[in-house]
Amino acid sequence: MEKLVDNHGREINYLRLAVTDRCNLRCFYCMPEQGIKYVPREDLLRYEEMVRIVELLKNLGVTKLRITGGEPFLRKDMMQFLRMVAATGLEEIHITTNGTLTDPHIPELRELGIKSINLSLDTLDPQRFFSITRRDSFEKVIATFHRLIESGIRTKINMVVMDGKNIEDITPMAGLARDYPVDVRFIEEMPFNGDGSRQDVLPWHHKEIVNVLRSEFPGLEKLPMKPTSTSQMYRVPGFLGRIGVIAAFSRTFCGTCNRIRITPSGVLRTCLYDQGVFNIRDLIRKGASDEQLTAALIQALSHRAKDGFEAEARRAHLPVHESMSTIGG
Ligand code: GTP
Ligand code: 5AD
Ligand code: SF4
Repeated sequence: MEKLVDNHGREINYLRLAVTDRCNLRCFYCMPEQGIKYVPREDLLRYEEMVRIVELLKNLGVTKLRITGGEPFLRKDMMQFLRMVAATGLEEIHITTNGTLTDPHIPELRELGIKSINLSLDTLDPQRFFSITRRDSFEKVIATFHRLIESGIRTKINMVVMDGKNIEDITPMAGLARDYPVDVRFIEEMPFNGDGSRQDVLPWHHKEIVNVLRSEFPGLEKLPMKPTSTSQMYRVPGFLGRIGVIAAFSRTFCGTCNRIRITPSGVLRTCLYDQGVFNIRDLIRKGASDEQLTAALIQALSHRAKDGFEAEARRAHLPVHESMSTIGG
C-alpha cells in the first residue's frame, strides 16, 4: 500500500475534517460577533465527497479521522454522515464539539464506536461562559459533559487559556480531572479569531500554565506521550483523569506532525498555519478519477513546511487572521 509521507519523511495518518463553518456559539477567540461570511451551501463538501476523500486517504494509510467544524452537529444529517464514515471501516473516528447539540446523539455515537469526544469548554462559571461564547448555553454543555461521562465514551475537555478571561478557571477546570475520568487540556490561545487581532507576546504560554498547575497540584507528574501527540499530559495522584497542556501557538510538536486538514469548502491544508494547498472539491467536481485525486494528495505533501512557523512565514498575507471555524482547529 502506498503511504502518505511528506517531504520531511513524516507519515500522515490523521485527517481533521471540518464539516461546517457554521457555529451556534460565538467564542471570541474563534469568531467575530457579526459580519461572518459563511461558505455558500453549494460550496461545502457534500457528504458523498467527504466519504470518498476518507476512503482515498484510508487507502494511503490514514487511520484516524477527527470531525470538527464550526460545530459539526449543526450540519444537517450529521448522524447520517457518521454512519457513512463508520461504514468505511476506518480504525478511529473522533469528534470535537461545543456540546450544545451533542446530547441526543450520545447513545448512537456509542453504538457507532466513536472513539472519543473532545468537548470545548473554557469555564465553569455561567457568566464567564456567556462573556466568552456570547451565548447562554452553559447548562446544556455541562449536562452533555455529564452524559458523556456516564456513556463511557472517552471524553477530553479543551479549554483555551485567555488572559483576563478565564485564568481563574484553570484550577476548577483541572478539578474536573480529579472528580471524573476525563482529560482536561489547557490550550495556548492562537490568533485564529477572524478579526486579525494578535497579541505581540502570548501572555499564557504553555510554561506559565504548567507553573500554575504545579503550584496548585505539587504532585503533578509528566507522562510519556506518543511523539505525534499535541498535548503533554500530566498525572496527579488521586485524580481519576489527567491534565494536559497544548502548546498550539508555541508549536513545540511540529517535528512529528502526522496530520492534514480539509476545510468545509474542500481546501487541503498541510498545516494549521498554512493558507491551503489546493481545493479537492474543485477536482472532484471536475470529474477527477480516484487515481488523479490520490496523486494530488501525494503531490500536496511533497513541499510541506517543516513546522508551523515556516508554514506561516510562507503565506502571501500575513499574519494568520481567519476564523478557526473555517479550518476546524
Ligand atoms: P486528540 O486527537 O484527542 O489528541 O486531539 P487533538 O489535539 O488532535 O484535537 P482537538 O480538536 O481536540 O484540538 C485541541 C487543540 O489543539 C485545538 O486548539 C487545536 O487547534 C489544537 N491543534 C490540533 N492539532 C494541531 C496542530 O496540528 N497544530 C497546532 N498548532 N495545534 C493543533
Ligand atoms: N486558539 C486556540 N484554540 C482554539 N480553538 C478554537 N479557536 C482557538 C484559538 N483561537 C479550539 C476550540 C476547540 C478546538 C478545535 O480548537 O476550543 O476545542
Ligand atoms: Fe500542525 Fe502545522 Fe504545527 Fe504541524 S506545523 S503540528 S500541521 S500546526
